Amino acid sequence: MTDPAFTDRFLTDFHEVARIGATEHQGVERQAATDEDRQTRDWFVAFAQRHGWRVDVDGIGNVFATVELVPGAPAAVLTGSHLDSQPRAGRFDGAYGVLASLHAAAEVERLVRSGHAEATHNLVVVDWFNEEGSRFAPSIMGSSVYAGLMDREEILAVRDIAGTSVREALSSIGYLGDAAGPTDLAAYAEIHIEQGRILEREGIAIGAVDSSWYTQKLDVEVLGEQSHTGATAMEDRRDALVGASRVTLLVRDICAEFPPGTLVSSVGQMTVEPNSPIVVNSRVHLVADLRANDPAIVQEARDRLVERIARVAEEERLDITATDFDVRPNRYFPQEGIAVQERVANALGLSMRRVQTMAGHDSVALNTITPSIMTFIPSVDGVSHCEREFTTDEDMVQGVRMLTGVLTELVGG
Ligand code: GLV
Ligand code: MN
Ligand code: MN
Ligand code: MN
Repeated sequence: MTDPAFTDRFLTDFHEVARIGATEHQGVERQAATDEDRQTRDWFVAFAQRHGWRVDVDGIGNVFATVELVPGAPAAVLTGSHLDSQPRAGRFDGAYGVLASLHAAAEVERLVRSGHAEATHNLVVVDWFNEEGSRFAPSIMGSSVYAGLMDREEILAVRDIAGTSVREALSSIGYLGDAAGPTDLAAYAEIHIEQGRILEREGIAIGAVDSSWYTQKLDVEVLGEQSHTGATAMEDRRDALVGASRVTLLVRDICAEFPPGTLVSSVGQMTVEPNSPIVVNSRVHLVADLRANDPAIVQEARDRLVERIARVAEEERLDITATDFDVRPNRYFPQEGIAVQERVANALGLSMRRVQTMAGHDSVALNTITPSIMTFIPSVDGVSHCEREFTTDEDMVQGVRMLTGVLTELVGG
C-alpha cells in the first residue's frame, strides 16, 4: 500500500526547493555550477543522507544517491533529472523530476522494506550536471559525459562568457568528484513537465514520450568594422549587428517556408561587441537552434540558412562564418517502457497518451546506453524557460504516483 502522506511531503519539499534562487515573479535562477546550483545540490545530498543513502559525485559533477534494496545486486535502476535552470527560468523544469525521483525512491524503499514490493535491482537517484547549457554549452552535459557521448576532459575545459572553465566552476562549488556513478544499468526513468500544450489541451494526465526531435545549432560569427555611429558615412559602415539582425529574421522566415509545426527555430543567444551606444558594432556572435521531427527538414533548413547568410555577408560587406554545432539525431524510446507506463497509468486510473519531445532531456542521452522511460505531466499554457512556467500541485502529485509505480515495476525486474 502506498502511503498517502508521501505526496504531501513531496509538495512541501518541492515548494521549499523553489525558494533557492527564487526570482521576483515566482521563477528561479540556478545556472550550472553557480552558488544557487550548489545550494540545491546540498539540499539533494541532505535529503539522501537523511534517508541513509550513499552519495557519490562523479568527475563531471553528477550527484548519485544509492538506495540499496538488494545488497550486491549488479544492475541498478537509475532515476532523476536536473536541478540547474536557465536564466530567469521556471521552478519546474528539471527540479520537478529530481524531487519526484527522490520522493518516489523513498516510497519504493518503504514498500520493499515493508514487504509490499519486491526488488531485484538497487535504485539510484541522480541530479545531472548542466542539462540547460545556458552558462556552459552544450546542454545535456553531465548525462552525455556519463553516457559516453561527450568527452569528459573536453567538457571540463569548456568556458563560460567570463572565462571560467567547467572544471574551475565545479571545484569552486565543491562538486567535482572522483566517483564513477553506477556502471551497470537495468533501466533509466525520468519525469518532467511537458513544456508544450498537448496534455493540457486534451485534458490528459500523463504523456509517455516515444521519440525526441532532431536538433542542431548553428553557431554564427559576424565580423564587420568598428566605427563612429555619428561620424561614419552610411555607405562606409560595415555593421555586424545589421548582419546579425538579418540572420535572425532569416531564421524565422525559413521556418515559415515549411508546413506549420514541422520546423521550429529561433536565435536564442547573441553577444554584441563592443556594444556601446556610439559605436558601430564590429562583432556579433549568435546561436540559432533548429529542431524538427524529420532530420531531412533540419538539414534542408540549415542549407537554406547557410546559403542566404553568404548573400547577407556579400551585400553588407561582412565576414560571416556559420558552424554546425550540437547536432543530435532524433531518437526513439523503447516500446517496453511505453508498456510499463501504460500498465501503471491504468492501475492508477490516469489518462495517458504518447507524445514526442521537442525539448532536450537527459533521458535522450541515457536512452543510448540503457532502456529509458520519459514521462511528461501537463504544463499550463505550454510555456517553459520563463518565470510563468506552471504545473498544478495535483498534476505534480499524479506524476509522483506514476513514477513511483514505474520504479516499483522496474526494481522488481
Ligand atoms: C535544454 O533544456 C533543451 O531543451 O534542449
Ligand atoms: Mn529540463
Ligand atoms: Mn530546460
Ligand atoms: Mn531541456
